[in-house]
Amino acid sequence: MNEIHFDNIDSTNTYLKNNYKDLEDLCVVCADSQSNGKGRNNRKWDSNSKENLLFSILLKDRKYFTYYKSISIVTAYTILEVLKKYKLDNVSIKWPNDVYVNNSKICGILLEAISKNDIECLIIGVGLNVNQIEFADYDTKPTSIRKEIDSYTDINKLKKDVYKKLFENLDKLINNHSFYEKIRNYDYLKDKDAYALINNKKEMIKVIGIDEDYSLKISVNGKVVSMEAGEISFHM
Ligand code: BTN
Repeated sequence: MNEIHFDNIDSTNTYLKNNYKDLEDLCVVCADSQSNGKGRNNRKWDSNSKENLLFSILLKDRKYFTYYKSISIVTAYTILEVLKKYKLDNVSIKWPNDVYVNNSKICGILLEAISKNDIECLIIGVGLNVNQIEFADYDTKPTSIRKEIDSYTDINKLKKDVYKKLFENLDKLINNHSFYEKIRNYDYLKDKDAYALINNKKEMIKVIGIDEDYSLKISVNGKVVSMEAGEISFHM
């Protein structure tokens, strides 16, 4: 594994996007801070310098591309496994790829694909809140490891634990291991009533839960449908 570290960069995802052609498969880029950190749906990802874990992994080998739809939830599950090792309780996965502790978001994942005609590479970006305690007032009510366990975490040690587990789990994934039986036990949205924006229409829905293919089963007006990431956003 090749790791490139920056004290500051615009965004570790953007760096990989601009440089993937010259970099090796599984190259990891991490940064102490980002001046233009990106979240999903064109949101920003803010993080105090040196207080959190910010990194992106480049997947260039085609063997990963078939698993495109599973990679972000498996990454979320990996973070959950590591957080449990760090003694955090009530950790769950908010489909499709946020990690929550109780009702607060502790980690976000941004999976991007670069494609011309075919996929050229995938970029997994992870922002895990570690030692930061003051956050802007987002409706995800951000939390961090320090807020949860009231002590500092060595970010370098945590980073090694996360990389190790993530490479292990990506390897399992491409060998057709199913994470479903594990993931279904940590389904934050399961059985929740929510407002959801589906194809730009606000609907009252009931979440049934994450399905075996990692899509989300919901019930809208008594009809059960499967949603893919990107097709739905929640307003709890
Ligand atoms: C989200 O929850 O909206 C996804 C947040 C992803 C943030 C990480 S931080 C490292 C990597 N670089 C970025 O610009 N974004 C991801």
